[in-house]
Amino acid sequence: MEKIAVLSGAGISAESGISTFRDKGGLWEQYSIEEVATPGAWARHPEQVLRFYNERRRQVLQAKPNPAHYALVKLEKKFEVQIITQNVDDLHERAGSGKVLHLHGEILKARSSSDPQLIYPWRGDIRPGDLCERGSQLRPHIVWFGEEVPAMEEAAKMVQAADRLLIVGTSLQVYPAASLLRYMPPGRPVFLVNPDRESLPPIPYLHYLPGKAGKAIPALVKQLLAE
Ligand code: OAD
Repeated sequence: MEKIAVLSGAGISAESGISTFRDKGGLWEQYSIEEVATPGAWARHPEQVLRFYNERRRQVLQAKPNPAHYALVKLEKKFEVQIITQNVDDLHERAGSGKVLHLHGEILKARSSSDPQLIYPWRGDIRPGDLCERGSQLRPHIVWFGEEVPAMEEAAKMVQAADRLLIVGTSLQVYPAASLLRYMPPGRPVFLVNPDRESLPPIPYLHYLPGKAGKAIPALVKQLLAE
């Protein structure tokens, strides 16, 4: 079976009502990364960090997958589809995608602040005083700026093995995630879905699909299934 790797970002969930980061009105216009999404912020004011991610979790719980998430599930009829997502929501899983790798963590999980192996499903708010089984404060299961991205090696292998790559809804501004493109063997087709092409870096072997994910992805999937 031909392999398609999908690199998704906040834009694929935008039509589900989840805020993106760098668009006009995006989260990083309202909040400073240094104040909510770094180990330093956690050390200085954990309450503020918890509040920010509690809000993100509530937004995800209210959201539903959109036609872009569902179309990627249909793609599995004919292709081996590996999704590599920068998103911390669970909309790919809820739509029914079989293989989803989260690069930046998962908002519906909490983890121990002392032992990264202690991870728990978590749907409510995380509050100061919520502890892991060893007695340490719980934090969101999110990769913060300045932290390692443990899933990168696995993700790089997946891109290397892919016959085609589909990039959807990401500004390609955050490293190391954006460097995954470099693992794509030269000459293999890359599809890009993003309504704002001008803001993105140049990409070789590119098939650009204009429009929002909710329309462009179902159209692309239809085309690929009909090949
Ligand atoms: P960004 O917010 O940086 O970029 C979202 C991209 O989606 C932009 O390029 C938009 O043009 C595009 N977009 C908006 N609406 C869309 C739609 N309906 N369909 C398709 N594309 C659309 O989000 P990411 O690239 O995912 O990390 O950001 C990467 C990382 O930065 C996130 O994982 C997060 C953030 O800081 C952490 O928090 C560690």
